[in-house]
Amino acid sequence: MKLALANINLGLWAAAYIKQTAESFLSAHPQEPFTLGLPTGGTVTDMYANLRLFYQTGALDFSPFVTFNMDEYANLLPAHPQSYHSYMQRHLFSGVNIAPQNRHILDGMATDPQAECAAYEAAIRQAGGIQLFVGGVGRNGHLAFNEPGSPFTSRTRKVELTQDTREANARFFGHRLDKVPTHALTIGLGTLLDAQEILILAVGKQKAQAVSTFTQSEPTVSCPLTALKLHPNAMLLMDAQAASLLPKDLKKYFDDLQTKNPEAAIYCLEL
Ligand code: GLP
Repeated sequence: MKLALANINLGLWAAAYIKQTAESFLSAHPQEPFTLGLPTGGTVTDMYANLRLFYQTGALDFSPFVTFNMDEYANLLPAHPQSYHSYMQRHLFSGVNIAPQNRHILDGMATDPQAECAAYEAAIRQAGGIQLFVGGVGRNGHLAFNEPGSPFTSRTRKVELTQDTREANARFFGHRLDKVPTHALTIGLGTLLDAQEILILAVGKQKAQAVSTFTQSEPTVSCPLTALKLHPNAMLLMDAQAASLLPKDLKKYFDDLQTKNPEAAIYCLEL
């Protein structure tokens, strides 16, 4: 897997990467859809703005895309402004030509969450698996809503959110912790690791500790982000703030690359 430091706007780089990956997949498999796994959260709003811009300027046609979102809050109506259904409508679906039947988001209101999660796994399989899964990371290292302790083999399921995650997300609920849902439906780490390729984005100081733990530890369930180390084609892309607590040797590695090639878009280290 690769650890990478962004030297240009990370949202623009990620959007351009999705475009390039989709185009190369579709030129090799013109009859197949391009299956893309998608996240929500503050980290990726810029990436979505750039994807919408690609569509508006005619640079990217989304009609061959089939999307699967990572997660959704449980017991929050889809019409609630902070549901991930609403988020996706606002940030992506209202601005690009992905057909409604090609967009998949877990139903957090499902009366039988287990059946809903099993059907989601089946839909991913039926679509031929995910080509590229893009995600953010929680400040405690969670991926999707796989909190610390989630098995690396976990599949789509209903989970309880940690206090830390609920506190981090309270900013989206008017800083009212009591308004943040206590449970969610999420893809599992096993579901994520099944993707052909994974791109995880880490932006801001809040993520620096999780990124630093990631670089210094073997894969461990106490930091779900470390699951990426088990994947042959994964990248963790950070901005300078998320990289601010890297161990000295890694900092020096990236500093040296930056000095040698100040124009590069990103700097990569194969781990
Ligand atoms: C949320 C989401 C994750 C997201 C993470 C980071 O709880 N379930 O999928 O990656 O936390 O969110 P943000 O980008 O807002 O920091």
